[in-house]
Amino acid sequence: MEFRNLGQTDLKVTSICLGTMTWGEQNSEAEAHAQLDYALSRGINFIDTAEMYPVPGRAETSGRTESYIGSWINNRGKRDDFVLATKITGRSGMIWGRDNASETRHSRAQIDEAIEKSLRRLQTDYIDLYQLHWPDRQINGFGYHSYFDYDADEMIPLEDILESLNRHVEKGNIRHIGVSNEYPWGVMKFLQIAEQRGWPRMVSNQCVYSLVARRFDYGNAEIAMREGVGLLAYSPLSMGYLTGKYDGGAVPKGSRKDLFEGFLQRYVSENAQAAIKDCNQSARELGITPTEFALKFVETRQFVTSNIIGATSVEQLKENIDAHDISWTKEMEKQARRIQAKYLSPVC
Ligand SMILES: NC(=O)c1ccc[n+]([C@@H]2O[C@H](COP(=O)([O-])OP(=O)(O)OC[C@H]3O[C@@H](n4cnc5c(N)ncnc54)[C@H](OP(=O)(O)O)[C@@H]3O)[C@@H](O)[C@H]2O)c1
Repeated sequence: MEFRNLGQTDLKVTSICLGTMTWGEQNSEAEAHAQLDYALSRGINFIDTAEMYPVPGRAETSGRTESYIGSWINNRGKRDDFVLATKITGRSGMIWGRDNASETRHSRAQIDEAIEKSLRRLQTDYIDLYQLHWPDRQINGFGYHSYFDYDADEMIPLEDILESLNRHVEKGNIRHIGVSNEYPWGVMKFLQIAEQRGWPRMVSNQCVYSLVARRFDYGNAEIAMREGVGLLAYSPLSMGYLTGKYDGGAVPKGSRKDLFEGFLQRYVSENAQAAIKDCNQSARELGITPTEFALKFVETRQFVTSNIIGATSVEQLKENIDAHDISWTKEMEKQARRIQAKYLSPVC
């Protein structure tokens, strides 16, 4: 496994991170523990979760993924062996996450409540990386290509959010902080405030990224390189499309497309579908699997700190970790560049 620094910190994380968002919905507690054991046995030291997981977010299951990780931590011990990342939900109507059933926001009170609950579910006394799952301000977060005007009065000042997080860093509840689904303005603003106030810097930005989802390249990638706010890439397989398993038109029973078709909305445009087919076909012509092409592409981007892989079985997990072992060749790079030049970023 390869290790990379998390932002400008000296904390080393593996270039592959274990995603968890299917645990508690598609996967049982025993399956979650088997995935954790397997990933660590392969040298992965980085685990990503969120207070709202599993997905889709529901009152009945909210927090279950963290609880499964917590029972594994409790059984296993050796907490210092791995780097644990979780997230506070961004602005949403998932009111079940809060004691007073309010809209989820990044207010001081909600940050306090969310951290306390995550620590309890995870059965740990510290979180290595605490991320803002998506911005508190009104923003086109998932799947939009356009900008619209926002009401500035609606947002909690970033200074207040950072101050609240800093209090938990000082207490030792969290070690480092990061953003997710954040735009260049938000990242730079957080860095500016951190510098002015002597508060912690954001160390990472977790965003969608794959052969067909290239929005991070426009703005955020330069920040990753120059400011040390690296990408934690999610959905590197475009939720399964880049494994090639949907290419023939049939939908395997129990797959994400079968169970939660609404989730895959980002990928259904004509342009996205054409790009996905092209990627999978190119991989086969290169003599590798579509999964290998997609995962190794993400892992080899300079601005990527870690590639967050997700799996619903240990077999899938094995295949995804094995993809790390292939060499990224000039011919593969040429194909990836051709695909981007042809389709740009069909997925946002
Ligand atoms: N910050 C955010 O907003 C955000 C958003 C999304 C995800 N994430 C994080 O990123 C992680 C990964 O995201 P993702 O699950 O969307 O990643 P992905 O790699 O694009 O999709 C993973 C899904 O594809 C299918 N799959 C994976 N490997 C396969 C294989 N070898 N063969 C066939 N099918 C395979 C599985 O679904 P089926 O078996 O059900 O088909 C699996 O759950 C999440 O667990 C979470 O930690 C964060």
